[in-house]
Amino acid sequence: MAKVTVDGNVVEVPNDANALEACRAAGVDVPHFCYHPRFTIVGQCRMCMVEIDGMPKVQASCTVPIRDGMVIRATSEKALAARNATMEFLLINHPLDCPICDQAGECQLQDNAVAGGLPVSRTSEPRRLTPGYDRTEIGPHVIADMTRCIHCTRCIRFCSEIAGTGELSLIERGGHAIVWTHEGRILDNEWSACTADVCPVGALTTKEFRFRKRVWWLDKTSSICPGCEIGCNVSLEHRDQVVHRFLPRVNPEVNDFWLCDHGRFLAESLNGRDFLKPLVPNGTLPSAPGGAGRRETNWGEALGLVHEKLKAAQAGSIVALGSANLSTEENWLLAELFGKTVGSPNVEFEADQGPLRRIPNRKAVGADGGFVKGTVAAPNAKGAEAAGVRKADGASALGKILAGSLVPDVLYVSDAAFSARTADPAFAAKLRKAKFLVVHARVENPLTDVADVVLPVSGMTGKDGSFVNVQGRVQRFDAAFVPPPIVRTDLEVLLHLGRLFGSFETRWTAAHVFGKLAAAVPAYQGLTWEEPAVTGLPPSSSPAAAYDVLRPPRTSVDDTDKLPALAGKA
Ligand code: FES
Repeated sequence: MAKVTVDGNVVEVPNDANALEACRAAGVDVPHFCYHPRFTIVGQCRMCMVEIDGMPKVQASCTVPIRDGMVIRATSEKALAARNATMEFLLINHPLDCPICDQAGECQLQDNAVAGGLPVSRTSEPRRLTPGYDRTEIGPHVIADMTRCIHCTRCIRFCSEIAGTGELSLIERGGHAIVWTHEGRILDNEWSACTADVCPVGALTTKEFRFRKRVWWLDKTSSICPGCEIGCNVSLEHRDQVVHRFLPRVNPEVNDFWLCDHGRFLAESLNGRDFLKPLVPNGTLPSAPGGAGRRETNWGEALGLVHEKLKAAQAGSIVALGSANLSTEENWLLAELFGKTVGSPNVEFEADQGPLRRIPNRKAVGADGGFVKGTVAAPNAKGAEAAGVRKADGASALGKILAGSLVPDVLYVSDAAFSARTADPAFAAKLRKAKFLVVHARVENPLTDVADVVLPVSGMTGKDGSFVNVQGRVQRFDAAFVPPPIVRTDLEVLLHLGRLFGSFETRWTAAHVFGKLAAAVPAYQGLTWEEPAVTGLPPSSSPAAAYDVLRPPRTSVDDTDKLPALAGKA
């Protein structure tokens, strides 16, 4: 560690830090555009100018390695004058289109102009135009508008240094330089939208989010990407009960600063709701396919009917399916209720094997080659197992139902979309062979079409919980908004059903259940809801700020080391 003085305050920083990082460690916010903690230093934008004792000229602080005893003057008159001059140069050609720019509100150039720019422009010449290079799709997700580019080259360095795909380059020179794809190529890699995240201005934006919502209207909730078992930390951004986007939430142990396109653009799949009230059979069983023969009712009648059917059935002929999409707490309640209280030996889950997903992480070395990888297409397969729900296979109850050798008295499906196969009517028809079929569901699918009882649930946006990711890391997600009445969370449904058996109390929350789970499952010992289970940094107020997190502090992510038993499971 080295001692550095920044504006009179002494801070200790690692020996490999640069002067910009030392300023940030001292709490002095030196504006910058091209610096990013994960990219090579290029000293391109000249925004981070500071004075350093012993150096005759102001210096771009990101390019100056610190040394013990260095004295930095980050807010001296000379430093401020240099930074203001840089801003003025940048604004000579930047269009004054903030009112129609989708980056407004989270634009570093706008922030710096407001914080330190001149109140009036001293130029009257027309701004640079880039005909043919504005508002153009350069890949499946990214739209480029080169009139706004300030040539920081972060996007280029993301593609070459993080993604390793190198689609982007600077073409032309000087004032004519633009960032574009190489001839004949498009910006199409697994994390292409991260280029829009790292763009400090509105030069690169994502097609999916562009013009959907002004960012200052968005509420932000800490969440976990539901796309696969990696469990990338995301900021779930929403307004008026509508999810508009995911942004990566920095977690150096998991997704670092990044998010894959697959997960990012699942955000809007959390919207949509087809069921607002429980549905029960309107007469004879089984209910007719297509939902005919069912009627809406209240929770009392619906859960009363399920309770009755469970009591009347042979325990061995009851099958309960957990889900790798549900929280560990919900899977644990399911296992407790159906396994211990009802006595069924058939509490199982099935998780789809998806395509290989990867997220760049410099800590994942060796065989992982700089990526955290996952192959299960759901976020909580390890959590379901840890909660005591068994993985289904050909010899298990689910396998037998699908093979036609078992017709259960009751099949209780805690997630109507537990597998991609539920979208197949032939698959649903096999499960329909159960004498009584209950499903939790948010949106319709072939399985809900044929279920006897549909219990309307909130989905991920309406509930708290935790997942266990591919590394065995327990990660918490928070409820974004309250689901509409009388929809319940999966946890609440299980608690109310469990109460009818005298096993659970309906006042329990996810935190209560986590406590019980932590007491019951050896691998969870020492973890608490408030601290170790929560990982990742809080969602930043703007992506720009998120990307500027310097040497993110150690967070409870390290507590995952307490979960060797989980981490060891394949
Ligand atoms: Fe230092 Fe760009 S020159 S941040």
